Amino acid sequence: MKHAELMAGAKSVLKYNDVGKWTRPAPDLYPHQWLWDSCFISIGLSHYHIRRAQQEILSLFRGQWSNGMIPNMIFTDSKGHHKPEMWDSKQSIYAPDDIATSGITQPPMIAEAVVRIGSQLSPAERKKWYRKVWPNLVSYHEWLYRERNPHAEGLVVLIHPWETGLDNTPPWMQMMNRHQKPLWIKAVELTRADNLIEKFRKDTRQVPPDERMSTLEALMLFNVVRRLRRKQYDTNRLLFHSHFIIEDLFFNSILIRANEHLKDIASDIDERIPTACLSFMNKASKALEDLWDEDDGMYYSREFITREAIKEPTISTLLPLYSGAISQARAKQLVSMLKNDQLFNTNYPVPSVPISSGYFNHRRYWQGPTWMNTNWLIIDGLIRYGFIEEAQELKNRSIQMVEKAGFSEYFSPMDGYGAGIAPFSWTAALTIDLLSTHIKEK
Ligand code: GLC
Repeated sequence: MKHAELMAGAKSVLKYNDVGKWTRPAPDLYPHQWLWDSCFISIGLSHYHIRRAQQEILSLFRGQWSNGMIPNMIFTDSKGHHKPEMWDSKQSIYAPDDIATSGITQPPMIAEAVVRIGSQLSPAERKKWYRKVWPNLVSYHEWLYRERNPHAEGLVVLIHPWETGLDNTPPWMQMMNRHQKPLWIKAVELTRADNLIEKFRKDTRQVPPDERMSTLEALMLFNVVRRLRRKQYDTNRLLFHSHFIIEDLFFNSILIRANEHLKDIASDIDERIPTACLSFMNKASKALEDLWDEDDGMYYSREFITREAIKEPTISTLLPLYSGAISQARAKQLVSMLKNDQLFNTNYPVPSVPISSGYFNHRRYWQGPTWMNTNWLIIDGLIRYGFIEEAQELKNRSIQMVEKAGFSEYFSPMDGYGAGIAPFSWTAALTIDLLSTHIKEK
């Protein structure tokens, strides 16, 4: 397919999923606004419709809580497989009155999106844009370091796997099986009642069940939401009572990059980042090194209370490249994993878990398939560390994957088969970005 055709196709996906002031990730299954989806979408839009790109980000602030939290979902109505009633965000005194949201966040990609949009504007327009988003952006980062930084070391904790954006990623599933399996779920498992419950799932009516998470995993995830709701989404009421709080490698790598963007934005408009927040931001890069495991030669997420590493390599293993905070030597080590045929170097890379993992399944959601957004993050990291050839190669293979299978939600890393729901917005948006930018040394 010619690149011009692919570009036109990608733009028509974004138009089709546009619901006015924001874009749904996909029809039917995902009718609401999602945090990091909108960030990736705005990066695509910024190349040809700058005002609409800005609007995409501003729409996210509709759902911001008065304590600064930006939720992963802002609901439209009761459609889709996520229901506003289930979250009942009004349980928290901080939730907005006029709109229903979830009670948790998602990877903090906003600062990156803001800067990418800024790079398409004139200096005067850019400053105006930065000034507009500054209060919301800075209060979000302040919230992360005030509420989610209990060891005060600069690593934030997550309270639900949906906050990673990688819903059923193995380290979280391992911990969930160990600590969050109430008796009733054990009974379901024992009696194999999950086969029956599966018939009532909305998502598996639209996507083959073997491409989504298992019913048991889904039940446990919804059960964690019930627990969070009972605690009114108050992190302080959860900490120290649960072994299901994790210092997540993926999220923290993205946050560290976002912190750098926040500093650049601040200096561009002569704003100050509040001292407490800034001091944790400055500790974050060093704290990331605490997640390094010398014996295994890789970074891992860590359980918050015991501080034990959760030794399950996934796509997160490679994300410190995107953080930009690690040494060149460690970046080189991660790149060698990326190029290893037994781990991440498949026909259509980068798989969401290495093929050597016991969890690997080439069509199952975040337990094997390749996703366009994680490829995009890794390409960015490769460029930052000077791995230009590798970045170009991954870019080409990502584009080929979309040419072959269309704007799918995710893809088999083995044969490039398009899985999940389609047409999926961030696959389209990031295709636009990859086609529009020329890779060069930074
Ligand atoms: C799924 C993905 C999540 C995404 C959402 C909407 O839940 O795991 O990362 O934000 O769908 O596309």
